[in-house]
Amino acid sequence: MREIRAAVIPSSGHPTVIETLRLADPGPGEVLVRMTSSGVCHSDLHVRDGHWVRPGPIVMGHEGAGAVEAVGLGVDPELVGHAVALSWYAPCLVCRECQRGRQWLCSGSPALQHAQLDGTTRLTRADGTPVLAYLSIGTMASYQVVPATAVVPMPDGVPAEVAALIGCGVSTGVGAVVKTAEVPFGATVAVIGLGGVGLSCVMGAALAGASKIIAVDVNRAKIDLAGELGATNWVLAEPDEPGKTIAAIRASAGDGGPDFVFEAIGNPSTIAQAVGALPPGGTAVLVGLTKYGQQASFEAFPFVDGGRRILGSNYGSAVAAIDFPRYAEAYLAGRLPIDKLIDRRLDLTELEDAFDRLRAGQAARQMVMHPG
Ligand code: APR
Ligand code: ZN
Repeated sequence: MREIRAAVIPSSGHPTVIETLRLADPGPGEVLVRMTSSGVCHSDLHVRDGHWVRPGPIVMGHEGAGAVEAVGLGVDPELVGHAVALSWYAPCLVCRECQRGRQWLCSGSPALQHAQLDGTTRLTRADGTPVLAYLSIGTMASYQVVPATAVVPMPDGVPAEVAALIGCGVSTGVGAVVKTAEVPFGATVAVIGLGGVGLSCVMGAALAGASKIIAVDVNRAKIDLAGELGATNWVLAEPDEPGKTIAAIRASAGDGGPDFVFEAIGNPSTIAQAVGALPPGGTAVLVGLTKYGQQASFEAFPFVDGGRRILGSNYGSAVAAIDFPRYAEAYLAGRLPIDKLIDRRLDLTELEDAFDRLRAGQAARQMVMHPG
């Protein structure tokens, strides 16, 4: 048992409060992690703002890294002392989807309960109220107990904040390109929305050897950053004139439009733009998550007639134990400049301000750094 500091929301739609909580020792199949870094992702904001309703009280954060302090029964003691990245979708490893290697679709993940494998939480307030951990890992905390299957050791030399980013934005964006869509060498790619996820799609497209990478955003500064990450072309989007944005993307790609368009916002209008910009045979990859209940539409005849495709990509089809170390090695080799995504480092107490910037579309990736 130890006391920890954590960013808690009482329930979805309410601001975060920094609280002192009690954290129990790790149980069987669990790991105690001293958190080192946690990214501020738009999915946290969806929960904070009540677009997605989650039970509360709950510790925020799902893009994190740390160092293993202790392990519970049945977990390899060799892990103690290792720097790790955390997966926000700890696989159960026994359901049908896990068995067939599609862990991102696991139906038995403890993340679905925001708790540990036995359905309970290790966190309580001083008065005994149980507190959940977002997606079982609640990374905006000084320490956490997490499921062992969420823990992925990092190779030596990977900075904590890079490991944290591999835990969500990088795997989601790079994986959408190299795993979900399997973009082939020489393909043309457009990415709509250049937050941490979309910028990771840009990096993934560069890694895959795309011949053109068209960066699309309403914010000029984001387009400049995309250029540093490998974008070759750009379109400044005009949200009120989707037809103009579509035409500009098509003209920029040539050959009727880009082979692949990635939508990394989760907005019905930009989803329609992604489909609308495709040439015959092209593929739209939907990466951004919308608010619940939203519908997107497109004209059916040309879609079918032109043999186009739409793919949904969740967590970049990540198998964390295999993919996280690969992304880390690509970073170390200089082929995935993950650190360039970071535009701010902050303390837990500044989280609400970080959410304000993210809401305004001004942030690339803001990283909460947990003092050692
Ligand atoms: N056209 C083009 N770009 C837009 C538009 C638009 N109509 N509206 C917003 N954008 C840009 C913003 O300027 C910003 O750069 O989209 C980007 C969104 O980035 P973030 O808010 O930082 O989101 P991110 O954390 O990258 O997540 C994107 O993926 O995992 C999901 O839940 C997550 O739905 C979210 C999405
Ligand atoms: Zn995320």
